[in-house]
Amino acid sequence: MLFRSYVQIALLEAAAVFAMPSWPALQEYKAHLPKVISNTPSLRPNHPIGPKHPGKPFPPSPARTKYCYVKSHGDGKDDADYILDAIKECNNGGHVIFSQGIEYTIGTALDLTFLNHVDIDIQGYIQFTNDTTYWQTHSFRQIFQNATTFFQLGGHDINVFGGGTIDGNGQIWYDLYASDIYILRPILFGTIGLHGGSISDLNLRYSPQYYNFVANSSDVVFSNISISGFSTSANVAKNTDGWDTYRSSNIVIQNSRVDNGDDCVSFKPNSTDVVVQGLQCNGSHGISVGSLGQYVGEVDIVKNIYVYNITMTNATDGARIKVWPGIPSALSGDLQGGGGTGAVSNITYNTMHISNVDYAIEITQCYGQKNLTLCNQFPSSLTIEDVTMEGFTGTTSAKFEPIVGYLVCSSPSVCREIEIKDIEVVGPEGGDEFTCEDVPVGGLEVNCTSVNKGSN
Ligand SMILES: *[C@@H]1O[C@H](CO)[C@@H](O)[C@H](O)[C@H]1NC(C)=O
Ligand SMILES: *[C@@H]1O[C@H](CO)[C@@H](O)[C@H](O)[C@H]1NC(C)=O
Ligand SMILES: *[C@@H]1O[C@H](CO)[C@@H](O)[C@H](O)[C@H]1NC(C)=O
Ligand SMILES: *[C@@H]1O[C@H](CO)[C@@H](O)[C@H](O)[C@H]1NC(C)=O
Ligand SMILES: *[C@@H]1O[C@H](CO)[C@@H](O)[C@H](O)[C@H]1NC(C)=O
Ligand SMILES: *[C@@H]1O[C@H](CO)[C@@H](O)[C@H](O)[C@H]1NC(C)=O
Ligand SMILES: *[C@@H]1O[C@H](CO)[C@@H](O)[C@H](O)[C@H]1NC(C)=O
Ligand SMILES: *[C@@H]1O[C@H](CO)[C@@H](O)[C@H](O)[C@H]1NC(C)=O
Ligand SMILES: *[C@@H]1O[C@H](CO)[C@@H](O)[C@H](O)[C@H]1NC(C)=O
Ligand SMILES: *[C@@H]1O[C@H](CO)[C@@H](O)[C@H](O)[C@H]1NC(C)=O
Ligand SMILES: *[C@@H]1O[C@H](CO)[C@@H](O)[C@H](O)[C@H]1NC(C)=O
Repeated sequence: MLFRSYVQIALLEAAAVFAMPSWPALQEYKAHLPKVISNTPSLRPNHPIGPKHPGKPFPPSPARTKYCYVKSHGDGKDDADYILDAIKECNNGGHVIFSQGIEYTIGTALDLTFLNHVDIDIQGYIQFTNDTTYWQTHSFRQIFQNATTFFQLGGHDINVFGGGTIDGNGQIWYDLYASDIYILRPILFGTIGLHGGSISDLNLRYSPQYYNFVANSSDVVFSNISISGFSTSANVAKNTDGWDTYRSSNIVIQNSRVDNGDDCVSFKPNSTDVVVQGLQCNGSHGISVGSLGQYVGEVDIVKNIYVYNITMTNATDGARIKVWPGIPSALSGDLQGGGGTGAVSNITYNTMHISNVDYAIEITQCYGQKNLTLCNQFPSSLTIEDVTMEGFTGTTSAKFEPIVGYLVCSSPSVCREIEIKDIEVVGPEGGDEFTCEDVPVGGLEVNCTSVNKGSN
């Protein structure tokens, strides 16, 4: 019998809306749900442990037979030792519980990349300390874009769930960042080197920076995650991406609500085979591929991405692909780049409802370079091909009226097979135009206001 990965299952769920579901596959999925342990404080989520390679059986996910309750000082003192004790005791077949109604404080960077066959049941409330000096020197450096994480969780066959809350105590970071853009703001949830697992039913609040960074991981499902946290001062919470995936494959992100101020989901270099579905994104910069091609000498690949059934409100963009041009330029002090190589290919956005979104669709291969003449002179060496965006409905904001979308390649020779169709999006005054520059027009079923040097 053929076994399927999380991504294949999620694709089947998406396809089921349009066509008859493939029943043998769905039955196979259900047959491999982990057994729910009786008498547990909360049920394990119903996720199979995905195979590393489609076609191979799911690795065994043994029942969790042991319980470890995490203790708390309860007075704001660091509970990291108690957490590590419980996790070590229950690793390899146990169930770690952060009890409901209990507050936990974390003031120590926790390296949790040694996990194996363990469930982490977060029913209580976990908050990170506001010691910005400690965290800047101790949080885990993840290399990419100076990213650091409060903790890193990785290993095999791990489920994190429970209905509780993880709070990054972000306000102090939002205020600090306003006075120094080079401070290292920790990412709330670091999924680093996780192979086979699920993260579900959690509330993530007030992250200093991104909410989730998923790197070096495979076969992971994120489901029913609530993300929110706004600044209460004049200093806006910046770079609070919902999820950033990096060097990861076979990832599903689904059925979640994100209220933030940067990308809802962002596919960073070497994100492959990712399904994103059933998200309600509000206040964001959209669901983005990139930015890519930022660093000279690096090869960035993003392929086989399927984004389905998204509601996007109060955002700058709905669907977005951002690629830096062929030579470096500076967008701001801490955001500059261009000149990297690679490829964006096989990207589908299907079914998105927008409301108060500046651009329903934005594809740019001139990211960070406002001078398009200069961008055309040094086209990107990172190609964009086989992109389909279809089934968009709703109303944009008035920002670019009558323009509702933006399609700008750095040269038609490095942008291929772009299909934009079934777009029922208008501006508040009824405008439905797209800016199109150097993009092959053959697959565009939209009203382009300018087609410059484009060809099929
Ligand atoms: C940091 O947190 C502690 C404990 O919750 C609190 O007493 C203190 O006022 C906070 N400091 C700042 C600068 O927010
Ligand atoms: C991922 O794995 C590579 C290779 O082992 C390592 O160099 C890198 O630091 C890891 N983490 C991230 C975030 O890339
Ligand atoms: C990383 O931090 C260094 C030093 O603070 C800074 O010069 C550089 O621009 C930062 N890089 C990115 C990609 O943010
Ligand atoms: C989603 O998670 C919340 C707790 O964070 C829980 O109350 C709710 O029942 C979950 N929803 C589903 C559909 O599982
Ligand atoms: C679309 O996503 C929403 C959650 O935002 C979910 O409730 C709904 O069932 C999904 N619809 C389809 C057709 O998948
Ligand atoms: C949705 O986003 C808007 C704009 O950022 C914000 O004002 C509003 O509070 C958000 N809604 C929720 C429920 O967080
Ligand atoms: C991404 O994948 C490409 C092609 O395999 C590889 O050359 C490159 O080093 C990878 N980049 C990272 C950051 O892992
Ligand atoms: C394109 O990506 C989808 C997932 O979105 C995948 O099912 C399909 O196999 C990919 N096509 C190719 C040719 O790799
Ligand atoms: C979008 O923003 C408006 C104005 O801030 C707000 O009333 C509305 O609730 C937001 N939409 C969502 C889904 O939060
Ligand atoms: C844009 O770049 C071109 C080519 O280098 C240059 O001639 C032009 O002056 C630039 N335009 C602006 C507004 O800087
Ligand atoms: C393009 O504009 C024409 C005239 O306003 C309109 O009839 C047509 O529906 C538009 N096409 C698309 C794809 O929006």
